[in-house]
Amino acid sequence: MTPHRIRAFAPGRVNLIGEHTDYNDGLCLPFAIELGVIVTAELHDGEGVTAPGLDDGARFLEGTLAELRSAGVELPGATLDIEGDLPQQVGLSSSAALCIALALALYGAAETAPPRPVRLARLCSRVESKWAGQDTGLLDQLASLLGEKGRALRLDMRTLEARPIDLHLHGHLLATLDSGASRSLAASGYNERREESRRALELLGLESLRDADDASGLPAPLDARVRHVISENERVDAAVAALESGDLGELGVLLNASHASLRDDYEVSVPEVERAVAACIDAGALGARIMGGGFGGSVLALFPPGATLPDGAICVRPGAGARLL
Ligand code: GLA
Repeated sequence: MTPHRIRAFAPGRVNLIGEHTDYNDGLCLPFAIELGVIVTAELHDGEGVTAPGLDDGARFLEGTLAELRSAGVELPGATLDIEGDLPQQVGLSSSAALCIALALALYGAAETAPPRPVRLARLCSRVESKWAGQDTGLLDQLASLLGEKGRALRLDMRTLEARPIDLHLHGHLLATLDSGASRSLAASGYNERREESRRALELLGLESLRDADDASGLPAPLDARVRHVISENERVDAAVAALESGDLGELGVLLNASHASLRDDYEVSVPEVERAVAACIDAGALGARIMGGGFGGSVLALFPPGATLPDGAICVRPGAGARLL
């Protein structure tokens, strides 16, 4: 019997470290957070899927519907309601969470098993790039789909292997702070960095920047871009080692080094982000860095036990991944 109501949850994510590496076949260390998006589908006998109230997100629904239809999924008539506690437009991947929750709810409504996480991540990433004009790697989608309570994920974007890493913080806190910068440059800046990576690859004669080990022969700014990717991949494994040995001070040092590299070599920072990082450091953070695509969004900081977080900071903890409720 067809159920009348399907509910799906998809969380947002933070990325502990490993930025602008996903589309370069590199390493990342994200986790799903406890905040997310819930899509409730009320099935009815009529035709078509509508989501009254989904004004800004309408293109995500159109894209998800188109992707599901081209995958041969037959959708029943449904009205969708979207709610959640994940702040939007602050770099916590609310659009990836929305796409994933929509896709899971619609697969559920169609009584069809969703594809495996990597394929579903690709489907949702296509929705964002083809329908919303934002090229993305698979970082946000995989983090939301594969998240586990209490753990981060070491993602190897070349093999798509996801290794859970226990996130024992020994009383320390991870928090995000919205920089407040308008994200108007975000899509164009991000797409420009991806294009620079492609140009660097051509000049180096490589298939993937994962294989790059020396950027010095490249013209500026491509040399700096590749330098970031090489050093950021190294920092991901250094962060895994720091977590495994409980060295939170070292994790802070790595967050600061990642920030410096994203600011100086990858050049994706803006003054508002620098101010948000400084506010975290002034509040006693052991490390703080720009997070996500850059040009605005939230910064991520690691605070020692007992620290008072700056105004507006949101404490983030690793939660379970996307699922039907
Ligand atoms: C955005 C993209 C991700 C990733 C990050 C940078 O969040 O959606 O795929 O590229 O930027 O690490």
